[in-house]
Amino acid sequence: MAEDSAPLRAPAGTHDVLWPESARWERLVAEFARRAQLAGFGLVVSPMFEDAQLFRRGIGDDSDVVRKEMYEFADRGGRQVALRPEGTASVVRAFVQHHPPVPWKAWYVTPAFRYERPQAGRYKQHHQLGVEVLGTDDPDVDVEVVALAAEFYDWLGLARVDLAVNSMGCAQCRGHYVAALVAYLDEHASELCDEHRERYRANPLRVLDCKRPQCRAVTEAAPRITDFLDEACAAHLARVRAGLDALGIEHRLEPRLVRGLDYYTRTTFEFSATSLTSAQNAIGGGGRYDGLVEALGGPPTPGIGFGIGIERLLLACDAEGVFASDPPLPDAFVVDVTGGAEARDLCAELRRAGLGAVRAYDGRSLKAQLKQADRSGARLALIVGPQEVAGAVVTVRPLRGEGPQETVLRASVVAWLAAHREKDTEEHR
Ligand code: HAM
Repeated sequence: MAEDSAPLRAPAGTHDVLWPESARWERLVAEFARRAQLAGFGLVVSPMFEDAQLFRRGIGDDSDVVRKEMYEFADRGGRQVALRPEGTASVVRAFVQHHPPVPWKAWYVTPAFRYERPQAGRYKQHHQLGVEVLGTDDPDVDVEVVALAAEFYDWLGLARVDLAVNSMGCAQCRGHYVAALVAYLDEHASELCDEHRERYRANPLRVLDCKRPQCRAVTEAAPRITDFLDEACAAHLARVRAGLDALGIEHRLEPRLVRGLDYYTRTTFEFSATSLTSAQNAIGGGGRYDGLVEALGGPPTPGIGFGIGIERLLLACDAEGVFASDPPLPDAFVVDVTGGAEARDLCAELRRAGLGAVRAYDGRSLKAQLKQADRSGARLALIVGPQEVAGAVVTVRPLRGEGPQETVLRASVVAWLAAHREKDTEEHR
C-alpha cells in the first residue's frame, strides 16, 4: 500500500521542463521557426513512432542508434514499432509517401528517444530542431543548411562553437576508401578497443567515430577519406567550403568525421561547443544522404539536413552565460478585495486588449494579494477596493519603483494601460 502511494518520478534520463526555464524553449523554437521560414522551410509534423523497419533500413542495422539504443517493441496488435531516435528517417518516409514537389524544404521540432546511459548532456529522451532538404544535390544547398545552423548559434550568443566538415564521398569513392581502411585496421586490430576489435570488419567506418583512446590512437594515422574522393565528390566538397568561406562561416576539415548514422554521403558536418567539457559536446550535426530516399522505396533523390539538440544547446548557452531565461512578465496584477468579480472582468478585458494580466484567487487579503503582485514581476498593480468601486476608478500602483500611484477611471483603465505600455516600449527601444 505504502509503495503504491509513493510519489512517482520521471524516468531516469528524461526531464520535465518547467516555467520559467520553458520560456527559453519557447523563444528558441520561435526564433528557429522564423529563420527556417525565411529560408523557405515549412514545418512538418510526423508520428513519434514508426514501423521499426524504417529506422533499420534508414539509419542502418549496424549503427549504435539502431543496434543498441532503439526503443522498439511490439504494440498490442503485434506490430513491431519504434519511438523515433531522430527526425530524418521519418521526414524522408513522409516525402516518399506524399511525393511533394522538389526541392522540398522541411523543418521540425521533435522529441527523440535513445536508450543510452544517462549522463550530462546525454538523455533517453532529448529534443531536436532540424531541417531537411530533398530533391537537390546543389552544393549551395549544403552551404545554406550549414549557415542556417551556424547563424542560429550566433543569434543565441554562442561564441565557442567549432564546426567540423568532411565528405563521406559517394558509394564508389567510399568503397575504395573502406577497402583501404580495412587493410589498415587489419594491421592494427589488436590495438583497437574491445568492441571494435571484434566488429571493425562489419562496419569499419564506426571505428573512426569511436571515442575510446585506443581507437583514437589507431585512427590518428589511418587513411583519410578526403584522399579517396573522386573528382565530382572533391569538387562538391570544395564548392561547399568555398561557400562557407564566402559567408564568413569558420570551419575546419575533419577527415575522421563520419557521424553515427549510416545514411550519410558526401558532406557531413558537426558543431561542437568547446565550452562544454563533457564528451557530449556536439550541439548539432548533419549531412547529405543521397541514397536514403531510394533505400526507403522512393525514386533516386538527394537530400541533406541537420539536427540540433535543444538540451545540449542550452547547456552550452549556460556554460557561456548567454541566452538567459527571460520569461515575459505580465503587464498588470489585478488586486481585488471586493469579492473577485472585478478581477475576473478586468483581467478578461486586459487580455482581450493583448495585455498580460494575472490576479490572485480564493479571496485572499489585501496584504497577501499585494505580496503576490510583487512576486509576479508585473509592472503595475491595478487595485480595486470598495472605495474604487464606489468612485468607478482603479488605483494604479507601480511595482518596480517607477513613478507615483495614480487613480484612473475604471472605464478607461485598459486604454490607459495600453498607451502606457506603448510609451514604455518606445523608451526601451
Ligand atoms: P545526431 O548527431 O544523432 O543526428 O543528433 C543531432 C543532435 O542531437 C546531436 O548533435 C546532439 O546535439 C543531440 N543529441 C543526440 N543524441 C542525444 C542524447 N542522447 N541526448 C541529448 N542530445 C542528443 C541526427 O539525429 C540526424 N538526424 C541529423 C540529421 C538531419 N542529419 C541529416 N539530417
